[in-house]
Amino acid sequence: MVRATINGITVAVSEGTSILDAARKVQIRIPTLCKHPDLPATAACGICIVKIAGSNKMLRSCCTPLEQDMVVTTHDPEIVEVRRSVIELILSRHPNECLTCGRNQNCELQRLAADFGIRTEGFTSCVPDLPADRSTGAIVLEPRKCISCGRCIDVCQRMQNVWALSMLERGIDTRMSPAGDIQLADSPCVHCGQCSAHCPVGAIIEHDETTAVWENYATRTGTALSKSLRLFASPSAMHSGSNLANSSPANCTLRCAVWGSGRYSIPISAPM
Ligand code: SF4
Ligand code: SF4
Ligand code: FES
Repeated sequence: MVRATINGITVAVSEGTSILDAARKVQIRIPTLCKHPDLPATAACGICIVKIAGSNKMLRSCCTPLEQDMVVTTHDPEIVEVRRSVIELILSRHPNECLTCGRNQNCELQRLAADFGIRTEGFTSCVPDLPADRSTGAIVLEPRKCISCGRCIDVCQRMQNVWALSMLERGIDTRMSPAGDIQLADSPCVHCGQCSAHCPVGAIIEHDETTAVWENYATRTGTALSKSLRLFASPSAMHSGSNLANSSPANCTLRCAVWGSGRYSIPISAPM
């Protein structure tokens, strides 16, 4: 076991536990962006920095193991200011299109910006001009929204063993793309949707057929289809017209019932 102090609280964790996980154990929440609980740390964003007594560096808590007798500070005005600057820098490379984004209100970057009370642009906007890839009809890649966290690549390679995605170029030109810079439809992608489920922003989302579903609902009420809608759609989604494709498993089931295809184009027999 390793014993250390985080914000004055004594914590004991097994060897190799990250400072981030050790802090969580004593209910201290360090903000993160690139780290996903399913995946190893890529240490790409720099939001999770902390101070260690005796060191003049700020360390990334997601990839730094807690050591014996460490004295860690997770929050002070300087740390918060650095985190705020990192978020502003990321936002300067990210399109300001939240209201029309498929991840609106379910976006980790949006949530962080709100948590830090960011209301103005801290840096001049410089969003890369990269085309979207809708070639599969199931997964939509929007690399101009990518924050280069690396989660999609990790999940595609490590969990799915598909290796369809990669990072191309270097430095400021780094961009997420199907490996080999081809269309996703021409890649080994199996449309499992794990990259979309793990992307913190709207750079990889599911193809959304919500509008088509509602158009069908309007024209086919009284048929077996409307029975499916009543069976599978949640009342709140029915009334609000919310994003069925991205919200809940129940809504996903609705789409499957309507289109006879699974969440990511996997054929199923539709109850119609
Ligand atoms: S949908 Fe699955 S296979 Fe395709 S790129 Fe994403 S994670 Fe890889
Ligand atoms: S597409 Fe999403 S998950 Fe992949 S690197 Fe970009 S932000 Fe991260
Ligand atoms: S969460 Fe630790 S560097 Fe991104």
